[in-house]
Amino acid sequence: MTDYKVKDISLAEEGRRLIDYAEKHMPVLMHLRKKYSKEKPLRDFRISGCLHVTKETAVLVETLRELGAQVAWCGCNPLSTNDRVAAALAANDVSVFAWNGLTTEEYYWCIDQTLKIEPHLTLDDGADLIFTLHNKHQNLIPNLYGGSEETTTGVIRVRAMAEDGVLKYPIMAVNDADTKHMFDNVYGTGQSTFDGVLRASEILIAGKTVVIAGYGYCGRGLAMRARGLGADVIVTEVDPVRALQARMDGYRVMPMRDAAREGDLFITATGMKDVITGEHIKLMKDGAVLGNAGHYNVEINEPDLVAMSVSRKRVRHALEEFTLKDGRTIYLLAEGRLVNLVAASGHPSEVMDLSFAGQLNAMLWLSRHGKELEPGVYDFPHELDQQTALMKLHTMGIEIDEWTEEQEAYARAYAEGT
Ligand SMILES: NC(=O)c1ccc[n+]([C@@H]2O[C@H](COP(=O)([O-])OP(=O)(O)OC[C@H]3O[C@@H](n4cnc5c(N)ncnc54)[C@H](O)[C@@H]3O)[C@@H](O)[C@H]2O)c1
Repeated sequence: MTDYKVKDISLAEEGRRLIDYAEKHMPVLMHLRKKYSKEKPLRDFRISGCLHVTKETAVLVETLRELGAQVAWCGCNPLSTNDRVAAALAANDVSVFAWNGLTTEEYYWCIDQTLKIEPHLTLDDGADLIFTLHNKHQNLIPNLYGGSEETTTGVIRVRAMAEDGVLKYPIMAVNDADTKHMFDNVYGTGQSTFDGVLRASEILIAGKTVVIAGYGYCGRGLAMRARGLGADVIVTEVDPVRALQARMDGYRVMPMRDAAREGDLFITATGMKDVITGEHIKLMKDGAVLGNAGHYNVEINEPDLVAMSVSRKRVRHALEEFTLKDGRTIYLLAEGRLVNLVAASGHPSEVMDLSFAGQLNAMLWLSRHGKELEPGVYDFPHELDQQTALMKLHTMGIEIDEWTEEQEAYARAYAEGT
C-alpha cells in the first residue's frame, strides 16, 4: 500500500475528472508522455516533488510515473492544494502528502515525508524542498543526480546558496527557460491572478485604479490584464530600466508612498518583502483591496495590517475585512499568499503545458547528465526551449518559416554590408 496523507480520499473521483480535463489542454506534455512511455527512461529513478498540487501538476506527476519514476509529492504552499486532485493522486498509488490549510509544522512534515523515498531527483517550486534537504537530510545528498526549480524566487534562493558555497547538488533553473517565464509568469500569472481577485472580491475592475508592484515578467502580465479590464494602471518599481519600460508601455509610474493614496486594488509581484507596509496602508483609501501574486506571503506586511486594526473578519473564501482604528476598511485577499492559487485554481492548463514540459525535460536531462555535474545552478538547454516552443506551435496548428541555406550563410557572414 502506498503511503499518503490527504484530506479526504473519497474526493478521488472528482479529482480524476479534473485531471482528465487538464490532460486535454496539455498536448505537449501528453506528447512527451507518449513518446517516452515505452522506453521508460526514468525507470530507475525516485523523484521527490514539492509543487502546488493542482490538476496540471497531477498530469506532470502521472507523466513522470508513466516514464518509470517512483514519485513522492507535496504542495509548496499551505493553501494551494486542490484536495480533490490530491485524493485522485493518492488513489492512483502516488505517495502524496498534501491538503489545503496546512499549518507551518504540517507543511514541513509533508516535505519530510516526500524525502523518505531517498530521491535521485528533486523537483521544487520555491526551493523549500531543496533547502530542507540541505538543512535536515544531508545524508541524502550523495544519492542525488540533481534537482529543478520552477519559480523566480526559488531560482534566486538557490543561486544565493550557490554563491555562498552551500549548494551541494546541481539544480536546473527551469524558471529561466524562455518557454517558462515568458509565458507562465506573464500570461499565466496575468490571467489567473485576476481570476483569483475576481472570485474572491467580485469587484468591478473597469474604472478602478490598480497598482501593480514590480514590473518583472509577472508584473507585465498583471498590468496588461488590468488595462484590458479597463483599469487605470500604476506601476511601482525599484529597477530604473523596468520602471522606464513600464512608463513606455503606457502605465503611470511612481513610488508606493504616492501610489498608496490612489489605488483601489493593489497587487504585489516582486519576490521582495515589505512592499506594502503599515506606512502605505495608513495612506490608503477606505475599501482598498490588497493581494499578492509573488511566491511568499511576505510582500504585504500582514502583521502591520493586524496591528493597525480593531477587528478582522472573513467575508468569504479568500477575502478578509480589516477595520482600522480610524474606521477605514481594508480588504486582504488570500491571507497575502499567492492569490491565483488560493482564490482560483492557478494558471490555466495550456500555459502549464509549457512549464511542465520544461520540468519533464529537466528531469530527463538531469537523469542523464546530473552525475557529471558540479553542484551549481544550470541554465535550461536552449535547444530544448526551441523544441518545446515548436511543439506547442504545432499543437496550435501554427507553422513558421525556416531559414534557407542562403539565409543561414548570411547569418554567419560578416563581409556583406550595404
Ligand atoms: N503567482 C504565480 O503563480 C507566480 C508565477 C510565477 C512567478 N511567481 C513569483 O512572482 C514573483 C515575481 O516573479 P517575476 O518572474 O515577475 O520576477 P522578476 O524578477 O522578473 O520581477 C520582479 C520585479 O520586482 C521588482 N521589485 C523588487 N523589489 C521591489 C519593490 N520593493 N517595489 C517594487 N518593485 C520591486 C524588481 O525590480 C523586478 O523588476 C516571484 O516571487 C516569483 O517566484 C508567482
